[in-house]
Amino acid sequence: MCGIVGYIGKNEAVPVLLDGLRRLEYRGYDSAGVTVNGRGKLFTCKMEGRLAKVEAALKAKPISGHIGIGHTRWATHGRPSDRNAHPHQDCSKKFSVVHNGIIENYLDLKEELQKKGHIFSSETDTEVLSHLIEEFYQGDLAGAVREAIQRVDGAYAVAALGEDHPDQFVVARKSSPLIVGLGEGENFAASDIPAILPYTRKIIILEDGEMAVVEADSVQVTDFSGNIIDKEPSYVQWDLEAAEKGGYEDYMLKEIHEQPRAIWDTLVGKVDRTAKKVIFPEVKMTPEFIKNLKKIHVVACGTAYHAGLVGKYLIEKLVRIPVEADLASEFRYRDPLVEPGSLTIIVSQSGETADTLAGLREAKRLGSRILGITNVVGSSVAREADDLILTLAGPEIAVASTKAYTTQLLSLCLLAIYMAQHKGTIAESDRAALVDAMLGLPEQMEQALNMELKIKEFAEAFKDCEDIFFIGRGLDYAVSLEGALKLKEISYIRAEAYAAGELKHGTLALIVEGVPIFALVTQPQLYEKMINNIKEVKARDAKVIALANAGDTETAKSVDYVLYIPKTHPLLTPILSIAPLQLFAYYAAKARGCDVDKPRNLAKSVTVE
Ligand code: AGP
Repeated sequence: MCGIVGYIGKNEAVPVLLDGLRRLEYRGYDSAGVTVNGRGKLFTCKMEGRLAKVEAALKAKPISGHIGIGHTRWATHGRPSDRNAHPHQDCSKKFSVVHNGIIENYLDLKEELQKKGHIFSSETDTEVLSHLIEEFYQGDLAGAVREAIQRVDGAYAVAALGEDHPDQFVVARKSSPLIVGLGEGENFAASDIPAILPYTRKIIILEDGEMAVVEADSVQVTDFSGNIIDKEPSYVQWDLEAAEKGGYEDYMLKEIHEQPRAIWDTLVGKVDRTAKKVIFPEVKMTPEFIKNLKKIHVVACGTAYHAGLVGKYLIEKLVRIPVEADLASEFRYRDPLVEPGSLTIIVSQSGETADTLAGLREAKRLGSRILGITNVVGSSVAREADDLILTLAGPEIAVASTKAYTTQLLSLCLLAIYMAQHKGTIAESDRAALVDAMLGLPEQMEQALNMELKIKEFAEAFKDCEDIFFIGRGLDYAVSLEGALKLKEISYIRAEAYAAGELKHGTLALIVEGVPIFALVTQPQLYEKMINNIKEVKARDAKVIALANAGDTETAKSVDYVLYIPKTHPLLTPILSIAPLQLFAYYAAKARGCDVDKPRNLAKSVTVE
């Protein structure tokens, strides 16, 4: 996610802006910049790379002024570069804007503004805001910002400066967090509390549809129609570390709870809600290529591989093309049979995993087209793939991958529908049902996470178990693998996932009285088979916690506990059924006193073999 800082007051703006942006670095970014209004003129310093580069440039060429805005960018539209860094200016260079979020209709707005003669200098969606403000400006900065944001669809937190307004800056919020910090003779704005914590604990939290005119001695909050809103200030009790985790105890828990938003952000701009179709403007793979495809490979590691397994099921089900899912560390050395003209899907949160990159390069060398699914815009996978689907999960700090996994699943589902649309293997009604179900996922993920307290109880009850098993069939088996990995990598409990149909081929020997087993029973067409498998393990006195669809009244008769996940399309249940397993792993690890965010022996990105 991008970081925003604004300042106006008695001190020089640059030191406050840089200090605030430094406190937002943990959010991850690829470029940074500031604009300051000094003596009635706007000065901007922005560039790709670390904040230290901006600091060095400003030391070499200082800019003075008591009002300014700053930004750290996590690229979503337009690769990391100096010209794509924020703040963005209009043609007249009299307005400067920073933005966090996604402007869904930026291409239409950009075309409209270009037809009016506006010249754009970046590939970003944000820049349309600065030209819209220029277009609407008639002497009132707040009024121009108000008009501009009325034209924008999507999610945003915005801060805007005007050269002719050295005594105020304007902020506005719709879906992306934005706060105003209240000081003595000075005021602040930020996308996140840590940026301003050293200066004030007294804040105004803007809600969606609210904006503020911030001056050194006053803050006026209004709605988007200009109606004044009285806001009660809040007082931040958190220390800095807690603030960086959004008040959660660990980054992992914060990121688990960011999933509804991450799913929404990853969906935005990829679904035509009227036609109920998937749209991938950035995917260059042609319909002819899709129609002629004979084989698809999926190559990844760890959690990304587990997402790839789900992708295999989805693509084979919807597109009817054979898919081979491989662990990258195996794929790269087994002299793989990859045909020219095939498609290789590379899944990687970091986009830098050594084995996965080696798999990408081997598949490319053999003539396969590469489609990358990654969370990091400027990563090696993003640069080397022929096509790119971005998971917009925002930076994932915890070693255990959570929100990246669910947005990888969503991206693979979107891809499967997109390919099925072009291959003609999906009926319009089936496609519409899937699209409708996807649009309901953010809210349903919220509901799934509401089980948190019950799951915490289970986790504390089972925390001393030596072995915990996960069983499922079809998509539920693929999710079982991820549930087991989450548990073992942060709680160090031996957790294994088995295809439920495999129990009688050996694993049943391990099932004795009291062994905890998570049984995933979300797939209707495999339900009876799964219940039979549950009965097999219950006959050996295992303790079974089932994950079942809401409304399923049968499963409870066969198991010890049931965790119900919101009912969605069977092909989408993995996105929801993993949530209770993530929470179980988290609370089991906490109960065992483990370092949840930094588990032993593991790194967030395995950039070496
Ligand atoms: C997941 O919880 C692990 N941290 C690990 O398996 C990870 O998924 C794997 O290393 C792949 O990383 P990537 O997605 O960045 O390529």
